[in-house]
Amino acid sequence: MSIKEEIDRLTEELKVYQDKYYKEGVSLVSDNEYDRLTDRLIALEKEHPEFQHPDSPTKRVGSDLTNEFPEVRHTIPVLSLDKAYTDEAVLDFFSKSIQKEGGALSFAAEEKIDGISMVLYYEKGMLTRAVTRGNGEIGNDVTPNIMTMRSVPLSLPEALDIAVRGEVYLEKADFIRLNAAEPDETKRAANPRNLAAGTVRRQKSSEAVRVPLTMYCYEGFWADADKTPSDHLHILAKLKTLGFRINPHLAFFDADRDKARRKLSDAGLEGDAYAFSDLDAFIRIKTAERGGLPYEIDGLVFKINELDVRERFGYTEHHPRWAIAYKFEAPQAEAKLLGITVQVGRTGRITPVAEITPTKLGGSTIRRATLHNQEYIDELELAVGDTVSVSKRGDVIPAVESVIEKNSEGNTTYRLPSECPCCHTQIIQVGGLQYCPNYDCPDQVKGRIAYFASADQMDIETLGPRTVELLYDAGILRSIEDIYTADYSRVTDLPGMGEKSLRLLEKGIRESLGRPFAVVLSSLGAADIGKKSAEILVRNGFDSMDKILNAVDRRDTAAFAAIPGFGELTGERIVESFSSPSLRATIEGLRKAGVHMDAAEDRTEEGNLPQIFSGEVWCITGSFHSFNPRTKALKEIEKRGGRTVSSVTSKTTHLLAGEGGGSKRAEAERLGVKIVTEEEFLEAIGKGEEESGNEDGQLLLF
Ligand code: IVH
Repeated sequence: MSIKEEIDRLTEELKVYQDKYYKEGVSLVSDNEYDRLTDRLIALEKEHPEFQHPDSPTKRVGSDLTNEFPEVRHTIPVLSLDKAYTDEAVLDFFSKSIQKEGGALSFAAEEKIDGISMVLYYEKGMLTRAVTRGNGEIGNDVTPNIMTMRSVPLSLPEALDIAVRGEVYLEKADFIRLNAAEPDETKRAANPRNLAAGTVRRQKSSEAVRVPLTMYCYEGFWADADKTPSDHLHILAKLKTLGFRINPHLAFFDADRDKARRKLSDAGLEGDAYAFSDLDAFIRIKTAERGGLPYEIDGLVFKINELDVRERFGYTEHHPRWAIAYKFEAPQAEAKLLGITVQVGRTGRITPVAEITPTKLGGSTIRRATLHNQEYIDELELAVGDTVSVSKRGDVIPAVESVIEKNSEGNTTYRLPSECPCCHTQIIQVGGLQYCPNYDCPDQVKGRIAYFASADQMDIETLGPRTVELLYDAGILRSIEDIYTADYSRVTDLPGMGEKSLRLLEKGIRESLGRPFAVVLSSLGAADIGKKSAEILVRNGFDSMDKILNAVDRRDTAAFAAIPGFGELTGERIVESFSSPSLRATIEGLRKAGVHMDAAEDRTEEGNLPQIFSGEVWCITGSFHSFNPRTKALKEIEKRGGRTVSSVTSKTTHLLAGEGGGSKRAEAERLGVKIVTEEEFLEAIGKGEEESGNEDGQLLLF
């Protein structure tokens, strides 16, 4: 037997087995034998691709080759639908159509499946291409992934040239099951449509095959006009006999129910017959049924049944004039996508952001909405100029939910740039996300500092993202640890920053030194350590930085993994991120500055220190042996009820004077402000050496 003959024979044999199994649930061979034959065919096809059948059963198995999804031009118009939100609007569509035609019309009513629009192209009965809607003219060729779907015939019983339109979707139960099995919460899809869209674009069809996508077909286009069935119902019936899945929940509207029933049975289709006057009842029934369906629908589609009328009515730029979609809910808001900007987050994550026409939504006007990542844009097939529906997810971050209308400028799906827009480093791909891998990327650094200072973390009130940006660009602040050692004297030269802002800034920074250790821990922005997990760490024995770093240095992932709610992955991520030299430098810098590195420090400071400086106003000058940076001294004063200021005025009661320091000391002397040395101060706060202090052993200060 020649190679070609063997391939032919295996192909034939496996096709019979697959058909029996998928269509009737009957296994004609053992699993082992089936796998053996499949493996053999895969091997032969690999060596002799010229002999592979276009509808080879191996296509169902998927492959590990990387899909490219080339853009291809549709040969049929792949348009969207006009929308209606009320029964009246649908009835209006019925009557206006009948009026326009000047004769009787009938309408098919189908469920509007909330899935991915797909066109299957067959040549001489062979599936040649499966193409996404794209912009209606150009879509992506996703054939290898679609070929793994058992509901898509790879070949037809007749050698037809046809294009078939339908919806690829995932049943709700499968979505819930697959999502529950995804351990990484951030990777879970928001709804069945998103998961289906992601699957259609999996780079390896061997992965796509694991998601049980299915497809209902609802339109067929015959290249040969003579072979085109007589009306929409006959098209559906024909598609069914050709092996396509047709949604059995079909309804048909005519002047009266009998006429409707007759046309359905003429075409050999099951379905519900309705008179036009039943429309509101029908919509009520379907609305009630909606939640109980195994798949998600977002509306109903009403289509003129007569094909010659369809041809006469034609199309607008966006939709056919012979169909209308009744939508269950009005979109939350419609906006036009003006452009896409690219943000770089503190972790390097690249986020595309939609710039939209100002749109009222939930009481506010939104101008921007997140687009998450490239995959999300691809799934939406989103292009600049498209009309989109925007919602506020969980009522906070506006998100682009779907494309309502494609742009008429011919723009194709947006692609993220290949370089970081900030530092021009080549963007890398991690999972479905894009990252700038440069830890020193200015946008990342600014993001980390702003996160550290944010209200939810160290809460340095006046150090918001804008100020961080200003200080970074001025070269004053270049890292988190800089916050406590930077020379802020030039701050007042910056636009919008006066003496008062400087004082508030310094005060905010000092106050942050008292934040509890758990807050310090989460403010570092290390992977997996948010506010909650930082608290959990502390409660489970990791109540000091040293304890954490010791475990990290032993690479003791298990110690972290054992914490309830953490697990292996979290353990590994903690060890990995705390091993980073950059993070370690930050930690050591902060330790030196005096932020809490041990939960024990939190306890001594919970307001139970004697408030010995209460009512006093302190200023400091010069440098100190025990307080480096000197903000530490200010912290000691504030902890004991004193107020601190940055310059000596008549209101100042004490000047803590270290080595050096000129003008402040002179001013204090002039104003008669009490000058306190470092030794005296240490004594006062109970940290002095026994023998230090003044000669008569008395504290002179207070
Ligand atoms: S007919 C030219 N029928 O809804 C006719 N569309 O908002 C075009 N859809 O892009 C479509 N179920 O992806 C039609 N039974 C159905 C449908 C359906 C879902 C989707 C389709 C289309 C979108 C329009």
